[in-house]
Amino acid sequence: MTAANIFPKGFLWGAATAAHQVEGNNVNSDGWLLEHLPGTIFAEPSGDACDHYHRYPQDIGLLAELGFNTYRFSIEWARIEPEEGEFSRAILEHYRRVLTTCREHGLTPVVTFHHFTSPRWLIAAGGWEDEQTPGRFARYCERVTQHLGDLIGAACTLNEANLPALLATMGIGGEPAEQRGQVPMWAAAARALGIAPERVAPFQFTTSAKGFEVKLAAHRTAMAAIKAGPGNFPVGMTLANADIQAGPGGEARAAAVRREVNEVYLEAVRGDDFVGIQTYGRTRFGPDGMLQPDEGVELNMMGEEFYPEGLEATIRQAAAVAGIPVLVTENGLATSDDTRRIAYVQRALRGVTSCLRDGIDVRGYIYWTALDNFEWVFGYRPTFGLIAVDRATQERTAKPSARWLGNIARSNGASLEG
Ligand code: BGC
Repeated sequence: MTAANIFPKGFLWGAATAAHQVEGNNVNSDGWLLEHLPGTIFAEPSGDACDHYHRYPQDIGLLAELGFNTYRFSIEWARIEPEEGEFSRAILEHYRRVLTTCREHGLTPVVTFHHFTSPRWLIAAGGWEDEQTPGRFARYCERVTQHLGDLIGAACTLNEANLPALLATMGIGGEPAEQRGQVPMWAAAARALGIAPERVAPFQFTTSAKGFEVKLAAHRTAMAAIKAGPGNFPVGMTLANADIQAGPGGEARAAAVRREVNEVYLEAVRGDDFVGIQTYGRTRFGPDGMLQPDEGVELNMMGEEFYPEGLEATIRQAAAVAGIPVLVTENGLATSDDTRRIAYVQRALRGVTSCLRDGIDVRGYIYWTALDNFEWVFGYRPTFGLIAVDRATQERTAKPSARWLGNIARSNGASLEG
């Protein structure tokens, strides 16, 4: 069998973005608040980002012209419901125009209802450790689906509910609630929000057992709310799926991390329509914790090992544990050398091909990310994009990798080895 016929008809080929990282001026969100606090861990504020809020027609048109058939993006809760219970019809209409633009260009819109940022009021009300949050999230999802459901192609409820668990194993974040007041950014957030530091619980930084329960409950209630609305599209959630490997003597540790970070969540999504897999590389563990990449190996701009083979391993793990279709909702490389991006994606796609050959139900490959954008705490320095964005003029320039991957998309994978 050749690569030409291994990709099923209707395979989704696309690129992804997230509202806060590209739209600009997401001023009612917790992200905006955290970026501007004294003691912030964010390298710089998001500001205008890529001004995608206004420039989406051009961006969507470019993706279609490049050859893609899918665009994954998120809608912003902090814009749609800027104060609790106050929904903005004008903003919902904005997202209706975004969806319509996708449809007019023949792109299937894959919509993420929550991609890390939340309304500031939600965090002031206890955020992702508060037991009312699943109900609040479902109410928002219901409103959105009523307004937009007929145009949605596939929906992701939450993005990477397990990311905090993954980061905590790497020694990033994960302070127990009672210690949050000692971290300058959390202490400042508590003051700004008028709550106790132990109640500050933004989505990406909440690793507690309570946070895990709240997020899974939110996924379930959102799923029901979305399914009850107009449209008939698959719904799932996405996970951060690093390929967890053992270094010398690290087998037990790696197995424990794999269980805690990946398997528990993959078991929780059994029965969903699909699971979104988001893999960037591998993380290795020795007996005492995470290992640094070996001396001399190629690194990406995030300081992580260049390891495209991680995707195949995580697709296989997801299919085996969750037992549902897999959609690659993110995979990509932060690099200033676009030839390395092509090499990375080519090797990652060989992994997808091998999974398809073994009969694994992989529904699509969505590259992270469409545009060079706001990479959270790292600011604008890491560039994952297929399309470069001039920070002063907002001018877009498709990189060679965009044309290369777009051509593969256009041929439904046939040109992969060519
Ligand atoms: C997130 C993106 C992020 C990307 C690269 C994923 O964890 O969903 O928002 O930009 O990884 O770090």
